[in-house]
Amino acid sequence: MPKTNKKILVVGGAGYIGSHMVRRLLQAGCDVVILDNLSTGNRKLITDGELVNGNLGDACLLDKLFGAHKFDAVMHFAAFSQVGESMHQPLTYYRNNLAETVVLLDAMVRHNVKRFIFSSTAAVYGEPVAIPITEDHPCMPTNPYGNTKLAVERMLADCDSAHGLKYTALRYFNAAGADDSGEIGELHDPETHLIPIVLKAASGQIEHIQVFGNDYPTTDGTCIRDYVHVNDLAQAHLLALDALLRGGESVVYNLGSSNGYSVREVIANAEAVTGKKIPVVEAPRRAGDPAILVASSEKIKRALGWMPAYENLEKIIRTAWNWHLKQAD
Ligand code: UFG
Repeated sequence: MPKTNKKILVVGGAGYIGSHMVRRLLQAGCDVVILDNLSTGNRKLITDGELVNGNLGDACLLDKLFGAHKFDAVMHFAAFSQVGESMHQPLTYYRNNLAETVVLLDAMVRHNVKRFIFSSTAAVYGEPVAIPITEDHPCMPTNPYGNTKLAVERMLADCDSAHGLKYTALRYFNAAGADDSGEIGELHDPETHLIPIVLKAASGQIEHIQVFGNDYPTTDGTCIRDYVHVNDLAQAHLLALDALLRGGESVVYNLGSSNGYSVREVIANAEAVTGKKIPVVEAPRRAGDPAILVASSEKIKRALGWMPAYENLEKIIRTAWNWHLKQAD
């Protein structure tokens, strides 16, 4: 995207993916306002841009924000995103991911802001009937997290029909890695994602990694996922923003690398990158986990020319390890 002076509201900009997005937008010359309640986000991840500490479900705050700024678009990263947790606390997910997004969209419609980029997920598909997964694959989520994201996608389609709100829903596969600077990266508490946990085991911060399930119908019995670098995700958002601002129609795109890696392959790659032996303990399956999720990202490549720059897992893990070592320092 060429340099631009657009003003963007980034909801959840203090989170893992949101903070990488904020950097990319600032590099592109955008004016950025971040709305984040820091419940899972972290002030440390904001190195620039204006932070408003608040809740996206706070209609009064949104009215103030939309009154004070003329936003060209809104990007929405503020969601709970743990599949396992969503199985045990579904209502927390419906409240945060769905009900609060209703409030945000309502404010956008009232303030006539008509461009929206939504962080959706591969979890909307559920157990795949065909691999790689294309955007027209049936959507049958196997967990509440995926249900909430799919419900928002449907709400967006209805808002387009009724209010002309144009959106891009980006269905991320497994976001991973960190900015090359090592200044921002994945920072969850507690951490539940595979790659950061594997790196904690590599550096001795935890004793071992638990492999959740070894009897899936995959080559080595462990789940297969498609890991895509967080900066490649940010770049895709920028292309999607440009398309929307040029008058593009609402659309849904997958964002993945199109390569599947099993849990054991992730561990092996991490051992190669770190040069450390990673102790493994076999554990039962984690509820809600589909066996295989691998994307076809051909649609966005064709439509917007998106091309992931971090094309293999080792490169992705290297950036995560760099961030991990800086954190340990
Ligand atoms: N896993 C382990 N041990 C761990 C952690 C994870 O074996 O300690 C396994 C999981 O069971 C899964 C795989 O590693 O098979 C990846 O798990 P993550 O928790 O890293 O990621 P998920 O695939 O569960 O979910 C992520 C995002 C979701 C998103 C999904 C899309 O957290 O928001 O990718 O593919 F929907």
